[in-house]
Amino acid sequence: MDRGPAPTAPPRWPAPVQLLHWLGLVLIAATAVIGLLMVDMERGSDLRKLSYSLHKSLGMTALALGVLRLAVRLVVRAPAPVAGPAWQRRAAHATHALMYLVLLALPVSGWLLNSVAGQPLPWFGLLQLPALGGRNPELRQLVDSFHVGLFWTLAALVALHLAAVLQHQLLRRDGLLWRMLPRRRGR
Ligand code: HEM
Ligand code: HEM
Repeated sequence: MDRGPAPTAPPRWPAPVQLLHWLGLVLIAATAVIGLLMVDMERGSDLRKLSYSLHKSLGMTALALGVLRLAVRLVVRAPAPVAGPAWQRRAAHATHALMYLVLLALPVSGWLLNSVAGQPLPWFGLLQLPALGGRNPELRQLVDSFHVGLFWTLAALVALHLAAVLQHQLLRRDGLLWRMLPRRRGR
C-alpha cells in the first residue's frame, strides 16, 4: 500500500542544486589537493608540469560550474529553512553568500595569476583560453598571495559550514543533510 511521503520528510534542495553542490565539492577538493602538492614538486619535472596544467584546467572547470551554480541558485526556490534561532539562519545565509563569492573569486585570481605570469592556458589540451591581461611580473607575487589567501578563506568557510552541518545532523538530529541528498524510497 502506498502511504505517500512520510509526514516528517524534510523539504529538499532541487536536484540541480544538489548535483552542482556535490560536483563542486569534488572538483574544488581535487583542484585544491593538486594545488597544495604541485608547488613542492621538483621544478621542471613532467609530474609538476602535468599537475599545474591539471590544476588550471580543473580550476577553470570549477569556475564555469560555479557560474552555472549561481545562475541556478538565483532562479530556483530554496526550501524553507530548518527550525532554529534567527541568528543561525542569518549566519547560514551569510556563510553561503560568502562561499559563493570566494568560490568565484578564487579561480578568477588563479586565472589572473596565470595571465600576469604570461603563461598559456590550455583547457585539458583541447581549448586555448584567453588571458585576463598582459604579462606583468611585478604583480605576480601580489596576485599569488591573493590566490593563496582566497584558498585559505574558502577552507575556513567550508570548515565552518561542515561544523554547522554536523551540529545539525548529529546533535540536533534534524536531518539537515538529507536536504542536500536525493530522496530514498521509504525515507
Ligand atoms: C577552485 C579553484 C582553485 C583552487 C581551490 C585553487 C587552489 C590552489 C592552491 C591550494 C594552491 C597552492 C598554494 C600554495 O600552497 O602555494 C594553488 C596554486 C596555484 N594556482 Fe590555484 N586554485 C584554483 C584555481 C586556479 C586556476 C583557475 C588557476 C589558473 C588558471 C590557478 C593557478 C594556480 C597557480 C599558477 C598556482 C601556483 C602558484 C605558485 O607556483 O606559486 N588556480 N591554487
Ligand atoms: C564538506 C562537505 C560538505 C557537506 C557535508 C555539505 C553539506 C551541505 C548541506 C547539508 C547543505 C544544505 C543546508 C541547508 O539546507 O540549509 C549545504 C548547502 C550549501 N553548501 Fe555545502 N556541504 C559541504 C561542502 C560544501 C562546499 C565545499 C561548498 C562550497 C565551496 C558548499 C557550499 C554550500 C552552499 C553555497 C550551500 C547553500 C545551497 C546552495 O546554494 O548550494 N558546501 N551543504
